[in-house]
Amino acid sequence: MLENPADVALMPKHIFITGATGFLGRSLLQRFLKDTNNILYLLARSQTAEEYLIDELAWADVARIKIVRGDITRPRLGLETRAVRSLATAIDEVWHTAAATQFADTYKPLLAATNVQGTKHVLDLGTFFKRMTGFYYLSTAYVCGSRRGRVPEGAFAAPASFNNAYEESKYDAECLVRSSGLPFTIIRPSILIGDSRTGDATGERSRVIYGYILAVYHAILRLFPNEIEFWKQWENRSESRRCAIDLRLCGASSVTKNLITVDDAVNVCLAIRESRDRGGKTFNVVNERSLTLASMLESLQTLLKVHGITFEPGLSLSDIKIARNPAETFAYKMTRQFRPYARVPEPSWMTDNVERLGVARIPMTPQLFTFLVRAYMRSHLLVN
Ligand SMILES: NC(=O)c1ccc[n+]([C@@H]2O[C@H](COP(=O)([O-])OP(=O)(O)OC[C@H]3O[C@@H](n4cnc5c(N)ncnc54)[C@H](OP(=O)(O)O)[C@@H]3O)[C@@H](O)[C@H]2O)c1
Repeated sequence: MLENPADVALMPKHIFITGATGFLGRSLLQRFLKDTNNILYLLARSQTAEEYLIDELAWADVARIKIVRGDITRPRLGLETRAVRSLATAIDEVWHTAAATQFADTYKPLLAATNVQGTKHVLDLGTFFKRMTGFYYLSTAYVCGSRRGRVPEGAFAAPASFNNAYEESKYDAECLVRSSGLPFTIIRPSILIGDSRTGDATGERSRVIYGYILAVYHAILRLFPNEIEFWKQWENRSESRRCAIDLRLCGASSVTKNLITVDDAVNVCLAIRESRDRGGKTFNVVNERSLTLASMLESLQTLLKVHGITFEPGLSLSDIKIARNPAETFAYKMTRQFRPYARVPEPSWMTDNVERLGVARIPMTPQLFTFLVRAYMRSHLLVN
């Protein structure tokens, strides 16, 4: 029997991770790998996901990585009894980050199957894990839906409405986690953006902030013959000689958005894991500083060397039709799922639990945002 806490700390930790191919899961995995004590069980739902993980982890010690083929939409993730038994005696903790992250309501059935039923299946599997000391569930700060004012770090009654089926599915999943009887911890990040040091956003699927940026970028391209021509002209422009364009976006320029870098989110996750005071707790992982839409748009316009994009809170489809501006029509359609977020002020989140961790945070600034968007453009767009 191990009596010395130091010996216990040195024992290998067997960690089961869902969503390791995703934006946050990938960063979390990289950090867990740095601790050679950790043995990682990575859920992969397809051959593609499995191959991606093998490629990504080619540098790592294979003995510390076990890929588990399974799908959270299936009871027990579709695992055979033998596989469940072997996990049941091994797993010390679960990090459930897998989710459907689409906002459009057309994805409602997928969101329910993945985020609600899927979480139920992961919790059910967790009941077999007799050694498990922590079930960490990655939720979102936006489970607050239409709720305004201070959002507590804990359970609250369902808001009058949600902005989309994604938020609702994450709220419902939190309720399942709370009533599971497992040693849970709920982590609610705000909007994730790339790594603060490198700008890296590998694994990101153009879902949230990057989805919005891409929609605006592609709208701007509608005003040019093609993308190559846009970048040719861009080469010849300068900060003082930006290209004038005419593009209205639906939203209020004073509305703020709360962004956190993915490394900041992972730092907080690891600090929560280290904390003794995490059982049954919820952590609102938000930035102390939010950025206005005006400031974010200015970064984007500076990088693309354009000006003339404006926000109009009441911009409607009929205004757009009258203007017959192909860029506006495109932007209006492609930013449909982001519109509620661009029009209505954000709530403020209580952060006492996170503050008590004493972890150094990474404040979001217009300069950091510009750096992150530039890095994203370099890796995803035609710019070199
Ligand atoms: N991104 C954000 O801004 C943000 C903000 C707050 C909270 N969150 C939350 O943080 C978590 C991670 O978000 P993310 O942006 O990193 O997600 P993501 O990039 O969209 O990745 C989703 C992950 O879930 C996996 N997955 C989806 N359906 C699955 C299924 N049926 N079975 C097994 N795995 C499945 C995906 O695997 P495949 O590779 O096979 O598709 C992928 O690994 C989510 O719970 C999300 O709600 C995200």
